[in-house]
Amino acid sequence: MAAIDSAVADGVDILSLSLGGRSNPYYRDNIAIASFGAIQHGVFVSCAAGNSGPSRSSLSNAAPWIMTVAASYNDRSFPTAVKLGDGQIFEGSSLYSGKKTKQLPLVYNRTAGSQGAAYCFEGSLVKKLVKGKIVVCEGGIYSRTGVGEKVKKAGGAGMLLLNSEDEGEEILADAHILPATSLGASAAKAIRKYVGSAKEPSALIVFQGTVYVNTAPVMAAFSSRGPNSAGPDVIKPDVTAPGVDILAAWPPNISPSMLKSDNRSVLFNIISGTSMSCPHVSGLASLLKSVHRDWSPAAIKSALMTTAYTLNNKGAAVADIASTSTSKSATPFAFGSGHVDPENASDPGLVYDITAEDYLFYLCSLSYNSSQIALFSSGVNFTCPKNAVLQPGDLNYPSFSVLFSKYARNMSVTYKRTVKNVGKIPSTYAVQVKEPTGVSVTVEPRSLTFKKMGEKLSYKVSFVALGGPTLINSSFGTLTWVSGKYRVGSPIAVTWL
Ligand SMILES: *[C@@H]1O[C@H](CO)[C@@H](O)[C@H](O)[C@H]1NC(C)=O
Ligand SMILES: *[C@@H]1O[C@H](CO)[C@@H](O)[C@H](O)[C@H]1NC(C)=O
Ligand SMILES: *[C@@H]1O[C@H](CO)[C@@H](O)[C@H](O)[C@H]1NC(C)=O
Ligand SMILES: *[C@@H]1O[C@H](CO)[C@@H](O)[C@H](O)[C@H]1NC(C)=O
Ligand SMILES: *[C@@H]1O[C@H](CO)[C@@H](O)[C@H](O)[C@H]1NC(C)=O
Ligand SMILES: *[C@@H]1O[C@H](CO)[C@@H](O)[C@H](O)[C@H]1NC(C)=O
Ligand SMILES: *[C@@H]1O[C@H](CO)[C@@H](O)[C@H](O)[C@H]1NC(C)=O
Repeated sequence: MAAIDSAVADGVDILSLSLGGRSNPYYRDNIAIASFGAIQHGVFVSCAAGNSGPSRSSLSNAAPWIMTVAASYNDRSFPTAVKLGDGQIFEGSSLYSGKKTKQLPLVYNRTAGSQGAAYCFEGSLVKKLVKGKIVVCEGGIYSRTGVGEKVKKAGGAGMLLLNSEDEGEEILADAHILPATSLGASAAKAIRKYVGSAKEPSALIVFQGTVYVNTAPVMAAFSSRGPNSAGPDVIKPDVTAPGVDILAAWPPNISPSMLKSDNRSVLFNIISGTSMSCPHVSGLASLLKSVHRDWSPAAIKSALMTTAYTLNNKGAAVADIASTSTSKSATPFAFGSGHVDPENASDPGLVYDITAEDYLFYLCSLSYNSSQIALFSSGVNFTCPKNAVLQPGDLNYPSFSVLFSKYARNMSVTYKRTVKNVGKIPSTYAVQVKEPTGVSVTVEPRSLTFKKMGEKLSYKVSFVALGGPTLINSSFGTLTWVSGKYRVGSPIAVTWL
């Protein structure tokens, strides 16, 4: 908190915070409290959503004044091909850059050593069983490069590192110290079966270097998910950005595998996490700030959110690698408004602006008491209005979160929004709505005409639950204001409680 205060006193424009803890009410969340002080001084705050996905409500840094950034795959990968003795081929991922291995005997569990050999436990691999062979190891005990260290120590010539069922198809590239590759759950299943049944199992690993053909973006399984338990009336995360296998600066005194036995020293490594996606968005915020010096942190955030995209580079809906449903599509609880797009964000047409005082009214609407609110309002003399009806959904946020009881019938909620023209004059926007399953949406008025730059116009949007009970936990839609080339998009997330 002191560091954030010092940075603000130093006059920074952007804070990039790749850190965070468990989600708490904002008055018990140090980063939320300190970053509120930052945004009061016009500082944009971008934070990592966390790496605790894919479980529900696993995210950090959920305060509405923070830009909460999820992580997705980009189109670059570091693939390997694993060819088994019976001709099966599987794709893996590795940063090992040496030549391909020979077709070598493959050992696993009992054929590699004593108890624990399936996990390549320290001391479990037997030298004479693994020497010169490729060892199959289950992950989850040591760091991924650390498993390779056990295999190398025992004289193994290579390693296939298998994902568990729970880890699914998420595989990250690692700077292994021997010819080794990670494999997803379905490949892992086939490899276990093969090594357990073939007479003389064997495998060969080919390292294919850097390849740019991936379908992207795809949401990373580790990326923390909404809904936002600290403030369910605001969708979190806000956006996604590249966070898997990212080229990142690295301290030269720590090896790229983070193993002490590895004497390599590098200035860059390939690493994954929302700690990697967050700074992408911080960088975009600085670009936007340099084009639009007078934009508030909320306006920058709005521009990045309303222009974010939800289709991948093949024109299909962005998928979630952790999805177990047949559709595989990611939802706003994984990517918020979508993947950031710097060019369109520089000219968003309209912005949803929010002042520091608006956020304080939002805190009042959460029924925070005066000492809790004072944590945020120190320095300004603020008290919650006594008689006003405040609802958190009225915060002028560029997305919509609606909560309904599973048994709601004809129950309706209405939110108010105000948009500011930063595009062209004159311009007329028409609304397009894709209704979430089980909810009807009406917008009033359905068109907005701006005659001046900076002009603000308001609209109301009503959500009606058509009738329960429903078996689904959430449903999703969109609300988009369209004028010529401008598309000002907002996701709608309905949570059925
Ligand atoms: C490894 O082999 C032991 C002994 O046969 C068996 O009990 C264990 O389930 C095996 N482990 C795995 C992960 O297959
Ligand atoms: C690392 O260790 C290897 C083998 O011991 C040695 O050949 C190499 O010179 C070392 N590299 C550095 C940078 O110390
Ligand atoms: C606000 O709530 C906290 C936690 O319940 C309590 O400790 C504090 O005294 C309350 N403050 C006021 C002014 O009621
Ligand atoms: C805050 O405002 C109230 C009501 O307007 C006033 O009574 C009080 O003196 C003010 N306090 C400070 C510290 O300015
Ligand atoms: C819901 O409201 C509509 C319009 O007011 C009405 O026609 C309909 O009968 C209502 N349905 C229920 C289940 O109350
Ligand atoms: C809905 O939520 C319940 C309780 O958290 C969970 O058990 C159930 O699997 C969820 N259903 C779907 C379709 O996600
Ligand atoms: C950027 O906006 C233009 C004009 O609306 C649109 O055609 C294009 O698809 C947008 N780019 C992305 C990546 O969504």
